[in-house]
Amino acid sequence: MKKGEIYTGTVKKVAFPNRGMVEIEGETVIVKNALPGQTVEFAVNKKRGGRCEGRLLKVVERSPLETAEDCCPHFGLCGGCVYQSLPYGEQLRIKERQVRDLLGEMCPDSRFEGIKASPLTDGYRNKMEFSFGDEEKGGPLALGLHKRGSFHDIVNVDGCRIVHPDFTEILRTTREYFAEKGIGFYRKLQHAGYLRHLLIRRAVKTGEILAALVTSGQTGGDGLPADRDWERFLLENWRDRLLGLPLSGRFAGILHLRNDSLADVIQSDETTVLYGQDYFYEELLGLKFKISPFSFFQTNSLGAEVLYETVREYVGDTRGKVVFDLYSGTGTIAQLLAPVAEKVIGVEIVDEAVAAARENAARNGLANCEFIAGDVMKVLAAWGAENLSAAGPGAVGAGTGTSGADTGTSSTDTGSGGVSPDIIVLDPPRDGIHPKALDRIGGEIRPDQMVYVSCKPTSLARDLEKLTEYGYRAERVCCVDMFPGTANIETVCRLTRIK
Ligand SMILES: C[S@@+](CC[C@H](N)C(=O)[O-])C[C@H]1O[C@@H](n2cnc3c(N)ncnc32)[C@H](O)[C@@H]1O
Repeated sequence: MKKGEIYTGTVKKVAFPNRGMVEIEGETVIVKNALPGQTVEFAVNKKRGGRCEGRLLKVVERSPLETAEDCCPHFGLCGGCVYQSLPYGEQLRIKERQVRDLLGEMCPDSRFEGIKASPLTDGYRNKMEFSFGDEEKGGPLALGLHKRGSFHDIVNVDGCRIVHPDFTEILRTTREYFAEKGIGFYRKLQHAGYLRHLLIRRAVKTGEILAALVTSGQTGGDGLPADRDWERFLLENWRDRLLGLPLSGRFAGILHLRNDSLADVIQSDETTVLYGQDYFYEELLGLKFKISPFSFFQTNSLGAEVLYETVREYVGDTRGKVVFDLYSGTGTIAQLLAPVAEKVIGVEIVDEAVAAARENAARNGLANCEFIAGDVMKVLAAWGAENLSAAGPGAVGAGTGTSGADTGTSSTDTGSGGVSPDIIVLDPPRDGIHPKALDRIGGEIRPDQMVYVSCKPTSLARDLEKLTEYGYRAERVCCVDMFPGTANIETVCRLTRIK
């Protein structure tokens, strides 16, 4: 194969997450976003060191596996879901096989316990971040998701399957309202314009909705609010239009977030509450959680119950045991384990999430849960290994006074006294665990048992390799599908120290 040339071939299999493998003239080329069994046309765009990659140009022939009925109307155009055209059972089979292939070599003697389905396959998401833009250059105002492979073009996703119809109502109304008012979107390259994103979060159990419009702070030009008073009037009218919608859920809050950051991320320089409050509640497995606009919360609430039940089962009997919940978010896992465990200590980098975790634990009546705000790597570094193993009084400060993601200090408040963990639960972000934190955990803290929850099996495979070197063995592995229609998958792994 030669770089720049166009070829046609059949996808033999797809490696996690969406790496289609096509064989041409005895060579394997990776074509992203192709499905197993599809015949695809692609252009070779990278060839280096025996690795060859191709850019998908078109699907010449559909895969015999693509038999899903009533597929999402945006499938193929929208970059959100790549597995929509496959029946759900087939999606599960593909994901399970991918994780088995990835982890098989790493943990040959572990028990692979299959894949658990999401309770809902449609309307399962409790959070979406939509972008303002246009569907083609100079077109009318659009609000939706990025076109597959495009940084600029947006697809209006009025028919999106993975969200509740309330999301669609809010999305459509917001787009129509601002189009009617002649307000333009923020152009990322020029850093000019007003409308940036619409964040919607909707709890499945409580039906509470939080909607946040993210705009630049620009006023006084074409397609911008004329001035601050005019902007307030514009936003209050938008809020009133949303409040008049016949939704099945109810608004807990409607917010305006001002974001003048040059990066294309959702953040807030200034938050204005236009209605209600800047948080909402969701319930999982009988516990109630307060969620703020930016704190991490699993995006599939019913799937999260399956995931956390699996974590609880893998953790096993916690009576009389100390559990660390590293990367604890709003403290969901910590609180699900706390009713039986002796003590649970969570570590999380986002201050806001830690504050919510403490509040959640208090509301749920859990006095044996503590949360530290800080970077896991720094917090673990500050806990002396000798203190951990000696477990003397004051060895670990996990009291409520400790905080500060930047300082990572955890030893100033000795509220908990000395504790060393019997069990560590790890639920890191996509990139996995920082190597220094992993060395600390596997090489020095050395708990008897760990449960690793991963949303990216390639990161899990890398970290497992290191933990295996430290004498841990992956005993049980299981997948939980939290993301139907997409190529993503959650994996839970129970590790035991054997050396
Ligand atoms: C996959 S989420 C898991 C959250 C929680 N366990 C749950 O199920 O809701 C990962 C969390 O790790 C946090 N995080 C990311 N990097 C971190 C770090 N270096 N130290 C501590 N927490 C971190 C994120 O803010 C996020 O809340």
